[in-house]
Parts: sequence; structure tokens; C-alpha cells
Amino acid sequence: MDRDAAWRLMTENVEAEGLRRHMVAVEAAMRFYAGALDQDVELWGLAGLLHDWDWEIHPTLEAHPAKGVPTLREQGCPEAVVQAILSHNTAGTGVERSRPIDYALLACDEVTGLVIASSLVRPSKDVRDVKLKSLKKRWKEKAFARGVDRAEVEEATTDFSRICFDGSLELWQHVQNVLDAMQGAAEGLGLDGRLAASHSV
Ligand SMILES: [Fe+2]
Ligand SMILES: [Fe+2]
Repeated sequence: MDRDAAWRLMTENVEAEGLRRHMVAVEAAMRFYAGALDQDVELWGLAGLLHDWDWEIHPTLEAHPAKGVPTLREQGCPEAVVQAILSHNTAGTGVERSRPIDYALLACDEVTGLVIASSLVRPSKDVRDVKLKSLKKRWKEKAFARGVDRAEVEEATTDFSRICFDGSLELWQHVQNVLDAMQGAAEGLGLDGRLAASHSV
């Protein structure tokens, strides 16, 4: 399965623009970390791009992503990607994280939501205008991007850091890395200014 096939599977099954953007964001972060950790960039990217592909078909934490897995396998999705996807919802699937790709996926999952929300509240709607300083401020605002569970992000980052960085990746370096990765994918995310009011004519 190449990126085009993954993109087709995802977009054929996900209508919500926000959910598509979420997966493209996690893909960018996963590709960044695969590069940093000398891992397979395409493989890690697929895990990000596909991890919530079945959410509109199976919108419960009991069914998602487990019930989507037969389709992933039929489509030739690599088993390492299938396992990473299963392990991003251990409570629902019983699959524990065990490899770097698994820890990376969970660590990148929710935190992208903070960056997306911070981009969308800017008049420019451009992720390239977002700074780490404003993310730190938004992090402390409980009502902002409420769906981003700060405690879960911290825990997932600590685990990822322990497994892949000997404990040296601290939270704000991680957030900076995810921000950098997303800024490099601004166009694919649609967070390149095209949503700004002045551009909507
Ligand atoms: Fe999910
Ligand atoms: Fe997700």
C-alpha cells in the first residue's frame, strides 16, 4: 500500500474536513520522527494518515479501530502499521504498544489538535504563524482545544521519550517538533492561509 492508496481509503471513508486534517497532521509528525529516528518514513507516515480512517464508520472506542482492521489488511496495509493503529486505542483493542512506531503514533495523535486549533484562531489561519510561545499559553487554557487531554499528551510523550530518546525528549521539544513538521505540511493541511477571510472571495 502506497500513500496514494492510503489517501484514497481515508478520503473515501472520511467526510469531515477536520478529521482528514487531523490525520494529515499526524502523518506529518510521524514522517518527521521517522526521519529523526532513522526509521521508515513512508511506513510511519501511513500509520498517521490512516489511524482514524474508520472513525465515521465505527464511531465508538469499542469498535474503532478494531473493526476497520480487516479492511486495512485486505488493502495491503503493512502489518506494522496495522499494529500501530490497533495500539493507539489499547483500551478498546487490548493491543499494547511495543515498538517505536506505536509510541510515536500515540505521542503525535492528540497534540496535533492543539496546533490545529491554534492555527485556526489566528486571523491568517496559517500554521506557519504559530509560535511555541502561544502553544504554551494555549496549553494552560483549559477551555481551549478541550478535546486535547493534556495529561494524556504528557504521559504519551514521556513513554515515547523513554522508548525512543532515552528519556531526553521533553514535552515542549516534542511540541516544537510537531509544530515544525506541521509547518512543513501547511499546504496539505489547508493551513497555509487559504481559510483566511480575505482569501475566501
Ligand atoms: Fe483514534
Ligand atoms: Fe487520532
